[in-house]
Amino acid sequence: MADEKLGVGLIGCGDIAPTHAKALQQTKNVKLAACTDIVEASARSLGEEYGVPWTTKVDELLAHPEVDLVTIATPAFTHLPLTEQAAAAGKAVLCEKPIAANLKDADGMIAACRNAGVPLATCFPLRYLGAAKWAKELIASGALGEVIEIRLRNMGEKQESYWIGGFSGRTKDDWRKHKDKSGGGVVITNLIHHLDLARAVTGLEAVRAYCEMGTFATPVEVEDLAVASLRYDNEAIGLVEGSSCYVGRAAEPDVVFLGKKGQIRFGLWDGSAEVYLTEAAAGLPAKEWTKREFQDATHVEFYDALAAAIKAGNTPPVTGEDGRKALRRRRAGRSRCRCRQAADERGWFVGRACLRPPILPVGGAAKNAPPSKTAAPGIPPAGAGGRHGAPNIAQCLVWRAGRWFGEGGARCV
Ligand SMILES: NC(=O)c1ccc[n+]([C@@H]2O[C@H](COP(=O)([O-])OP(=O)(O)OC[C@H]3O[C@@H](n4cnc5c(N)ncnc54)[C@H](O)[C@@H]3O)[C@@H](O)[C@H]2O)c1
Repeated sequence: MADEKLGVGLIGCGDIAPTHAKALQQTKNVKLAACTDIVEASARSLGEEYGVPWTTKVDELLAHPEVDLVTIATPAFTHLPLTEQAAAAGKAVLCEKPIAANLKDADGMIAACRNAGVPLATCFPLRYLGAAKWAKELIASGALGEVIEIRLRNMGEKQESYWIGGFSGRTKDDWRKHKDKSGGGVVITNLIHHLDLARAVTGLEAVRAYCEMGTFATPVEVEDLAVASLRYDNEAIGLVEGSSCYVGRAAEPDVVFLGKKGQIRFGLWDGSAEVYLTEAAAGLPAKEWTKREFQDATHVEFYDALAAAIKAGNTPPVTGEDGRKALRRRRAGRSRCRCRQAADERGWFVGRACLRPPILPVGGAAKNAPPSKTAAPGIPPAGAGGRHGAPNIAQCLVWRAGRWFGEGGARCV
């Protein structure tokens, strides 16, 4: 295989599929070999347009001799069974984001690929934005100074047609509306890219999150507006904001990395970034804005880097664990203001505040609640006091490192 192009079998020929097929026409060491979709018209149209064999049966695609790697571009709830099937067939797996609709499925995918001895990668091509690479260089070189704030925004307005066919309408299906099928709304669908990008650029990991979200202007189950504050492991703070019902244009850039000695900011689709430094560094002047333009080919670079790693027997540049970490942060982001303790199943953290009448079971701790002996000082343990057995004091609590941390004093209403 060393001198040959790696062959991709594309599973799912819907909205995002042409982005993969087009990129694979420009890649150096990987090509589209075949495609499949349970909807015949979708499989056929993509196969015919890109001149590759198509089928409606995944096992036929997996049996194709030129398929070395499968790209799974189907709804999130299908990622686990398809990954298990591909891994059992000995194929490397690239899975579209989000890696899965929930952490249990993500763990199953990681285990299936580990057991089969095949690589698992997550599709986060925005790491290859010119702006993201520039930000990474400026942070790594120290030009920006220590990162103290990260702002991530995805403020969009999705039309009614999006919820039943994506942006192109290639395949009609309403999975995007449903939490169990998609995993969630704007946070999991869009902001997951930003959250991964921030990890990749800064190397920082979020250790706490507090999030408010809701469904305000769209007839769907999933959230259409979300705001979160994060704390990173170097003490930097983060602001995350996303919407799929944001009418008009957002005034702020999508991404800002603020350091002690400067900042870089950019829009994900602008093809440019602006930097301001307090001291001249990295060939940039002090105390003025410098703008740089980029010709981005994120999917092409992503595939070439992935194929190179697979051919060399190395770990993919963006792994299944990276996909899981982005999902974990996103799940933490969903633990919103309800008097209900929906602890992250890994016990990582969960934000919580008492803004509504509590819904904890009478006289008992909520399902998954931490043991009462670990309650933060001065704060009643789960299930103690208050209406329906919930705490009646004001709080925003964070479950971290095996205990509760009190986070503030807003009064419970
Ligand atoms: N990386 C990105 O920027 C990006 C952008 C859009 C979508 N996505 C992700 O890509 C995935 C697909 O999204 P989409 O917008 O293309 O959805 P879509 O509904 O338009 O397309 C999915 C396709 O998968 C097919 N399918 C469903 N189950 C299947 C199965 N078991 N076997 C074979 N085919 C099956 C459907 O018929 C459909 O044609 C999702 O995980 C989504 O979040 C990623």
